Amino acid sequence: MTAPFTVAIDGPAAAGKGTISKAVAAHFGLAHLDTGLLYRAVGVRMLLGEDPTKAAQTLVAQDLESPDLRSADVAQAASKVAVIPDVRAALLDFQRAFARRAGGAVLDGRDIGTVICPQAEAKLFVTASPEVRAQRRLAELRDRGFETEFDTVLADVKARDDRDTNRADAPLRPADDAVTIDTSSLDIDAAVAAAIAVVAARRAL
Ligand code: CDP
Repeated sequence: MTAPFTVAIDGPAAAGKGTISKAVAAHFGLAHLDTGLLYRAVGVRMLLGEDPTKAAQTLVAQDLESPDLRSADVAQAASKVAVIPDVRAALLDFQRAFARRAGGAVLDGRDIGTVICPQAEAKLFVTASPEVRAQRRLAELRDRGFETEFDTVLADVKARDDRDTNRADAPLRPADDAVTIDTSSLDIDAAVAAAIAVVAARRAL
């Protein structure tokens, strides 16, 4: 059995974690988990009137297939349920088991290198300026058919940054041993290449 090899990729909203994580996973043949989807799925169920903790405790694979998961409203709901310690606790074991699965895994989120898998073999903190992130998220939302404006998206990104950074339980911050990649002036290829270089160096140890 292959020894576990975990790549933890954390960072604020729309910094490019998703694209980088998928590319790193494909390059090294690792499984990938977008942990934001778990919080988004709980957010969807809260918006439907359910108690968030109960929703987190009874999450099923089908919840991750909701077509609404990527909407701006669900992103805000996700960051609201994410401050609730019982919600985070309910999602912990699944993420930890995924992180240490045989064959290795890439997880992206906010607290992977700090709380979910502090022993991760490679840790990245992917960030960019709020304006660059809002511009990218605006393009992504429009591509998906959600009509919105730059100022609205920027305000949403900043509100979420604030909630994610200032919550008491598992706040967003780089792990002490994380390598930071600022993608503000990097295109996708350059950002992916930088991330692959960091992980390759850790895999060679
Ligand atoms: O894709 P984007 O970066 O906009 O967000 P996401 O990764 O899908 O996460 C949505 C929300 O879930 C975040 O704003 C966080 O509040 C929360 N989250 C978290 O608390 N911990 C994680 N490991 C992942 C997401």
